[in-house]
Amino acid sequence: MTSISLRSTDPTRSRVDVIVIAVARSGKRLAALAPGDQVAAAFGRRFVPTLSTLGFEGKAGEIARLPSAGVVKSPLVIAVGVGDESSVTTESLRRAAGVGVRAIHNAASAAFALPTADGADVQAVCEGILLGGYEFTDYRSDDDEDDDISTVVVLTDLARTATAQQAVATATTVAEAVNRTRDWVNIPARDLTPASFADAVAALELPDRTKLTVWDDTRLEKEECGGILGVGQGSDNPPRLVRLAYKPKKPTMHLALVGKGITYDSGGLSLKTHAGLMAMKCDMAGAAAAMCATLAIASLELPIQVTCLAAMAENMVSGGSTRPGDVLTIRGGTTVEVHNTDAEGRLVLADALVVASEAKPDLIVDVATLTGPCIVALGKRTAGVMSNDDALRDAIPAAALRAGEPMWPLPIAEEMKAKVHSSTIADLRQHNPDPVGGALFAAAFLREFVGAHRWAHLDIAGPAFNDGDPFGYTPKGGTGSAVRTLIRLAQEFADES
Ligand code: BES
Ligand code: ZN
Ligand code: MN
Repeated sequence: MTSISLRSTDPTRSRVDVIVIAVARSGKRLAALAPGDQVAAAFGRRFVPTLSTLGFEGKAGEIARLPSAGVVKSPLVIAVGVGDESSVTTESLRRAAGVGVRAIHNAASAAFALPTADGADVQAVCEGILLGGYEFTDYRSDDDEDDDISTVVVLTDLARTATAQQAVATATTVAEAVNRTRDWVNIPARDLTPASFADAVAALELPDRTKLTVWDDTRLEKEECGGILGVGQGSDNPPRLVRLAYKPKKPTMHLALVGKGITYDSGGLSLKTHAGLMAMKCDMAGAAAAMCATLAIASLELPIQVTCLAAMAENMVSGGSTRPGDVLTIRGGTTVEVHNTDAEGRLVLADALVVASEAKPDLIVDVATLTGPCIVALGKRTAGVMSNDDALRDAIPAAALRAGEPMWPLPIAEEMKAKVHSSTIADLRQHNPDPVGGALFAAAFLREFVGAHRWAHLDIAGPAFNDGDPFGYTPKGGTGSAVRTLIRLAQEFADES
């Protein structure tokens, strides 16, 4: 990843290959935002008419490239639209930085002259640059690193303040976590199996005060994790439960993060259609997000104890696969009648939620690409938040908004409980008897495994993987959804205490 430095230089005098500025709409007019207004001033009265001639309207996400022909020191200016001046937020700046960095090609150095009123803005601009600059090239035969921008400078009046320096460091840790999540999601399922995921975590330079434990299939038998084993039994790649525990010196609270880690979801015997299969390497995005957020929380040395559990299995078709009609026994003894082997996520999460509960945390948050119905409800960019605590269900989307991630509360409708308890032969029924309310039924099922713990469930089936074009700082493929929200939650818990 590129490293960012701060400078308080006048943007017109910055000797870089490209300078990025923000242009807003102010009424019907265009206005370059400080400190980029100095660049606009150097162009003089020609600036706004030239942008208009280029068709630039200042809309969010729009760009215009202006060769400077010596008017400023940098030979190229990239103007990024941020929409109406009155509605520019910290998240607009993060997106503008992402759009700007994606518009840069074949440059060795770049400067970002975007408005930064405080440390949060500096952090957002840095995050936008580091997240927008992400590319997954591991599988390209012509992968050369030369295309990377080697020097990135953020121009801000706050450059010499400790707050701004801290903001760069935090942004770097956060972006590293998000980009590592994206990498793990983007690696094809052939190369990222439950065992190789565990190996990849073990190969990292783990932060201080963390401890990694991996339960392999033999251990999972001993620990009676029938959900993870039941889902994994159809695959040649055996399942794993990966635990990363972070214990700071004086923790003010204990948070458990649980992630769905299906390295490939074929649907099992309830096989998916071809269209449904294509992106299913993304089905471990929850586990990757939980793990990378935990690593970041430990790197930031937040005073929050974290127990992270990644429930890893591959959902495949073979003579050994779990069948619709089979009964599995989850850790702790609850029996579950399987109705649809494509509703596998809740089965692996059930075991992991029981293990998380055994650690007696103050709060459990699970993250999962759990249901297509959640995408139907909220679209491709918004995660669903469900909980056994109404205040928490509303607090998480609010924290997510502050982190710049769209999330929205969904209820666990009352009638779901009876449906979950409607198996004729086992304690619970795994799959919704009705074709409606699938995201809610799944949450009601998960709730059975957390006992009296405060718990929230983030369904990231929509936002975890972008099969459309890049936008803002979001690339194609793995997005790293939920990582920033989880880190932000831990930071806010730490600030409260
Ligand atoms: N992994 C899928 C959910 C999913 C779908 C994630 C699309 C990302 C994109 C999950 O295991 C699944 O197959 N869910 C079923 C619902 C279930 C109730 C059978 C689905 O989406 O149809
Ligand atoms: Zn799945
Ligand atoms: Mn599935």
